[in-house]
Order: sequence, then C-alpha cells, then structure tokens
Amino acid sequence: MLWAASLCLLLASAVLGAPTNKPRQKVLLISFDGFRWDYDRDVDTPNLDKMAVDGVKALYVTPPYLTITSPTHFTLLTGRYIENHGVIHNMWFDTTSGQKWPYYQSLFVNEWWDNGTLPIWITAQRQGRKAGSLHFPGTACTYDGETAMIQEVEPILYDYKNETAWQVNTDKVMGWFRDQDLDFVSLYFGEPDGTGHRHGPDSPQRREMVAQVDRQVGYIRESVNRHELGDRLNIIITADHGMSTVLRGGLVEEIILSKIPGFSFSDLSFHLVDYGPSGMLLPKPGMLDKVYNALKGAHPHLHVYKKEDMPEHLHFSKNERILPIILWADIGYVINGYFPVQFNKGEHGYDNQEMDMKPFFRAVGPAFHRNLQVGPFETVNIYPLMCHILGIKPEVNDGNLNVVRHMLATSEATTPETTPEKAQNSIRHNVFTGLAAVGGFLIIVFILSLAKKFTRKSHKDRREDISDNLPEKDEDSKVTSF
Ligand SMILES: *[C@@H]1O[C@H](CO)[C@@H](O)[C@H](O)[C@H]1NC(C)=O
Ligand SMILES: *[C@@H]1O[C@H](CO)[C@@H](O)[C@H](O)[C@H]1NC(C)=O
Repeated sequence: MLWAASLCLLLASAVLGAPTNKPRQKVLLISFDGFRWDYDRDVDTPNLDKMAVDGVKALYVTPPYLTITSPTHFTLLTGRYIENHGVIHNMWFDTTSGQKWPYYQSLFVNEWWDNGTLPIWITAQRQGRKAGSLHFPGTACTYDGETAMIQEVEPILYDYKNETAWQVNTDKVMGWFRDQDLDFVSLYFGEPDGTGHRHGPDSPQRREMVAQVDRQVGYIRESVNRHELGDRLNIIITADHGMSTVLRGGLVEEIILSKIPGFSFSDLSFHLVDYGPSGMLLPKPGMLDKVYNALKGAHPHLHVYKKEDMPEHLHFSKNERILPIILWADIGYVINGYFPVQFNKGEHGYDNQEMDMKPFFRAVGPAFHRNLQVGPFETVNIYPLMCHILGIKPEVNDGNLNVVRHMLATSEATTPETTPEKAQNSIRHNVFTGLAAVGGFLIIVFILSLAKKFTRKSHKDRREDISDNLPEKDEDSKVTSF
C-alpha cells in the first residue's frame, strides 16, 4: 500500500511539476483604419477567412464616441472612454487663442495626448515588458515622462496605400519581436479609411483596398512563421471606426449652420465644425441658450445637445475639453459651417450605435480559441484582454476582462503550441499523465477503503497506523493536483 501511495504521489507530482515550457506571451495589436465590420462580405478575403478558422472572429465591435481616428485609437491603447482619456478630437485646439491644428500636427502635441491616462506601452514597460509602436496614433508622445521603447512615426507626406511599405513595416515589427524580444507592439495601417472617404464605402475602389488588406493579413501571418514567433505571438486585428456613404445632390437638404434662422457665428467664441458629421461650439458668455435654442430642432437630421445632457451611451460629456454644445448629424449627413465645403463620399464620426460605425475584430495566436465566432463587444474591452495575455496589471480602465474572456483558450496562462500536430501530441501526453494520476488515486483509494473495512472488521481494537495516516496525504495531494 505504501508503495502504491508513493507511486501515486510521484505521478501527481509529475503532473504538477512537469516542465511547462511556456514562452512568455506576446501581443501585436493591428489597426486597419476605417475597416467596417462587414467589408469582408462583398470581397473575396481568403486570408481573413483563414484567420477566422485559426482564431476568433467577432461579428463586430463597438467603438467609443466620438468615432474618429485619434480618440478611438487612444481608447484601444488605454481601455478608457474618450471623456476619460482626454484625447477628445483628432484636432488639438485652444479656445483662448482660437488655434486648431490638423490631424497630423496634433499627433505631436504632447499635452493633448498625455492627459493623465497611460497607454499600454508605458504600463507594460513599468512591469518589465518591452513595447514598441509603428505609426499608431499616440506613438509620438511622452506619457508621464516615458515613451514606447521603440517608436516610429510616419512622415507628413506619407503614402498610406503603398503595399510594399506595408510589407516592409510588417517585417520590421516581426524583427522587433524576434531580435529585440519585444512583448507588445501596436501597428497602424491608414487604409481602407482613405479610400472609403474618397470614393465611398460602396465603391469598387474600397473593395479593391479591402482585397489589399486581405493580402496583407496573409503576409503578416506568413511573416510570423518566417520569424518563428507562432508559439508566443498573439495578433489582434481591428479598427478605430467604420464608414458611411454621404448623401449628396438635390436628394438631401444639407445641414448648413449659417442658414439656420436665429443662429449666428458671431454668438460663438470658438467652434469646431466642417469636420464630418460632428461639431462642437463654445458660445460667448451669456449666449449659450440663444445658440442652443436656435439650433435645437432646426434640421430633422441634426442633433443638438448641451454637454451635460449628452446621452449616457456616448460617454462624451465629462471632460473639461468637451465644449458646451455638441452637434452630430444622422447617417448620410455632414455638418457644414458657412458653406458646404466637404466633398468626401464617405464619412465617420456618427453615433457609435450606427452599424456603419462598427469596426471588425479578429484575433489569432496561442492565447485564443480556434474557429470561434463571438458576439459584439465594446472596444474598451480589448485593453484588459491584452493586459491579461501579457500578464501585466492594467491601469484603471472602462473595460472588463469578463466580457472577452471566452475568447481565450484557457482563462489562465495559455499553453502555446506551434503546430496542430504538436498540440495534439501535447494533449495526448497530458491526457495520459492525467489518467495515470487519476488511476493511481482510484487504486489507492480502493485499496485503502478495503484495508479500512478489513482492519475494522478483524482488528477493531488495534491501532490502524498505516491506514490512518495515508488518507490524509491522499487528500492533500488531491487538493494540490486537481
Ligand atoms: C488635461 O488637460 C486639461 C486641459 O485641456 C488640463 O486642465 C488638465 O490639468 C489636464 N490633466 C492632466 C492630468 O494632465
Ligand atoms: C513604396 O514603398 C517602398 C518601400 O518603402 C518604396 O521603396 C517605394 O518607392 C514606394 N513606392 C511608391 C510608389 O511610393
């Protein structure tokens, strides 16, 4: 019996103490700007389809409002709603001087980005991980005195469509993972947003660009294998927002603020309009109600809100940078100031409940289930998911790991395997060891119960030294090994 017990304990400890051989998990977060959730429905996308078979596909994800590039990307990096991280617009602005800077210039305004919320690069680095970023909005700035260890920002006149450059950038990032052992990298591609704006989401040009994105997804996965990162690299591919067709011509009554009776730009001390379907106004002192009353209800497709009355689901109210009056248009419309000066065929910036504003989401790698389709979730949850895979403690955020945990292969640290064959072997091995241990336990329990019965029956008066002690050990090893 003692012999059987030791064998059993040995087997148990083999399961417990077996070398797990788990490399630390890495994460690559990729954004294809403006890739709407349903863009794969009218284009052949063999590589995205393969990725869904090998990993997880969400039906769609919900971005935070305001659905524009810099604010929503900073939500991916922080897990915070826009009102909480403070990057409330693509444009940095100063209501006192009246200055506003365009998107690209605003990428370098440090105090705009570093407003009290740390992006995942900094948090990872402070917990012993290494982080990098290529072209991802927010990369250029310093947060609480730190930047991502490797940062690369595109030059001002950058061709976001160049497929060769996409491949060069992909291999560069894989090199960072392999040669410099980075744990987290964020990688940004500026398409299909540009094409969606210029030609509209229903155009053949957009479909052609989606085919290019799909080829790139194939290239990325091939590059992972070429760099031998398959056993530890997890890839999340998503986007900042979707895209919607702008209605034009005599078919629609355009929203032109200057034509609205009772409204005057001279009642404002600052405004942000002519920026797609959204706008923000700062009325002069004492003019708030006059401006609000003139605009409210003035156009059937224009929504006008005082900051404090903003609908709760938009989470776009509680920040001192948000101006006192917020405007947004219904799908199909844009907000013009003095004249119609916007000629994009596609736009975003609408209510995040609109299906046209939803991005796609795909994930693949050792941490994720294979061939799993999941329902929609908010993009604030991607941050705690990434922190969990990296094994770092997240900052305060608006996401919840439990919303996305079901995508993970195991809720604890994952056991990565490069190939299905290896995975199968490993499963077989684990099953064998597990069964052997369980079998051992069952045998010993059986022997002990027989022994107990036997000793009770025939030796009632004698001390049962062996069988008294063994069941306790048995209990102990059970607790620790299952
Ligand atoms: C965020 O920016 C605002 C100005 O836009 C400033 O008043 C505030 O102090 C900043 N907060 C932090 C924590 O940097
Ligand atoms: C595209 O990018 C590659 C690699 O960076 C570069 O060599 C090439 O000149 C670019 N092509 C165009 C048309 O700009």
